[in-house]
Amino acid sequence: MATINDHFLKLTAGYLFPEIGRRVGAFQKANPDAPVIKLGIGDVTEPLPPAIVQAMHDAIDEQATRDQFHGYGPEQGYDFLRNAIAKTDYQDRNCNVSPDEIFISDGAKCDTGNFLDILGKGNVIAVTDPVYPVYVDTNVMAGNTGPANEQGEYEGLVYLPMTDENNFAPSLPDQKVDVIYLCSPNNPTGAVMSREALTQWVQYAKQNNSIILFDAAYAAFITDDSLPRSIYEIEGAREVAIESRSFSKNAGFTGMRCGFLVVPKELTGKASDGTDVSLHQLWNRRHCTKFNGASYVVQRGAAAVYSKAGQQQTRQLVECYMENASIVRATLKELGFAVYGGENAPYVWLKTPDRLPSWDFFDQLLANCHIVGTPGSGFGASGEGYFRISAFNSRENINEAMARLKKQFKTV
Ligand code: MLT
Repeated sequence: MATINDHFLKLTAGYLFPEIGRRVGAFQKANPDAPVIKLGIGDVTEPLPPAIVQAMHDAIDEQATRDQFHGYGPEQGYDFLRNAIAKTDYQDRNCNVSPDEIFISDGAKCDTGNFLDILGKGNVIAVTDPVYPVYVDTNVMAGNTGPANEQGEYEGLVYLPMTDENNFAPSLPDQKVDVIYLCSPNNPTGAVMSREALTQWVQYAKQNNSIILFDAAYAAFITDDSLPRSIYEIEGAREVAIESRSFSKNAGFTGMRCGFLVVPKELTGKASDGTDVSLHQLWNRRHCTKFNGASYVVQRGAAAVYSKAGQQQTRQLVECYMENASIVRATLKELGFAVYGGENAPYVWLKTPDRLPSWDFFDQLLANCHIVGTPGSGFGASGEGYFRISAFNSRENINEAMARLKKQFKTV
C-alpha cells in the first residue's frame, strides 16, 4: 500500500480560514435569516478595475483568432508583465531588480509554500508569532518541524513574538537561524517594518548566512512614504532575500490568481558538499518543471495594472479599502478597544475586551452582531487575546458592521 507523508498528521487543526468558514456555515444553517457580514478572510469584494477588464477582454479576443492565439507561455511569465513589474515596482523606486529575476505565478501563497522545494532539510526556521499560517503549515508538511505543543507551537521552529509590548516589531533571534519569514505590511497585525528595523534584519541575515522570505503582498497599502515597500530598498538585501508579491489585494485578483516571486541572482544556498548554489537557478528549474506559467489572459490583466489608467484605478481601489480600515479603526477606538494596524495595511488588529480568548470573541461577535472576524490565536499563540478585522468589504457593509458594533459595545 502506498504510504503517506506522515508530517501532515502533525498539523494541529484545519487550515484557519476553512475552519472559520465551517463555523460560519454552521451558524448560518442554524440562523438562515441572520445577515452575516464577513470581515474574516482578507478577500476583496469590489469589481476589477475597468482597465484590467478591458485588457482581459482583448486577450480573450486574441485567443479566438488563429493568428494571435497563445498556447503555452514562458513558465517564468511573459516579458510584457515581467518588464512592467521590474520598472514600476522596483526600478522606479530605486530597487535593483531585473525582469529575469521575476517569476510570475498563480499567487503568493503557492510561491511561499513551493519555495521549500528547493531548500534542504535541517534548516532552522524563524517565524513571527502571530504569523500568516501558510509559513508554518508548509514547513510542517515539509518535515521541518517536530510535533505541536498545547499552544499549537511546533517543536523546532523559532517563534518571534509580536505583541503590543514590542509594538508588533519582532526582535532579532537570539540564536542562529537559516530561514526567516517576514511579512510587511504584516498579516495579521497590520504593523509595517521601518527602514531601520528591516536594515537590522538584512544585516542579521548577512552575518548568519540566513535567507529572508519577505512577503510584500500588502505593499500597495502603505500610505506613509517613509516606510519601505520592498526589502530591496535596503542595501545588501539582494544577497539574502527573496520577495513575494500578489495582485490579489491591490488589483482585486483573489479570484483571478496572479502573483510573483523575486529571486535575485546573487542569492545562494549551500549544497550538502559545501558548494554555493544559485537559488535563482534552482527556482527556475523547479518552476519550469512543476509549472506551465500563469494564464495569458490573466497576465494581460496584471500588466494592465501598470498602465496609466490601471495605476490610477488600482490606487482608487486601495484607497477605498484603506478608508474602510480607517472607519473600522475610528469606531473601535471610540468604543474603547485597544486598536493597532489599519493605517498602512488593510487589517485592523484589536485586543479583545478583558482579554477574552480570541475564539470566544469570534463566537460572540458572530452570535450577537452577525459579524465574522479572525481570531488572533488562529495566527499563533501570541495572537491569543487579539482579533483581526479585515477592511476588504463594501463601504455599505463596513458601515453596517460598525453600526452593529456600536450598538453592542457602546457603554454610554
Ligand atoms: C488572509 O485573510 O489572511 C488572507 O486573505 C489569506 C491569503 O491571502 O491567503
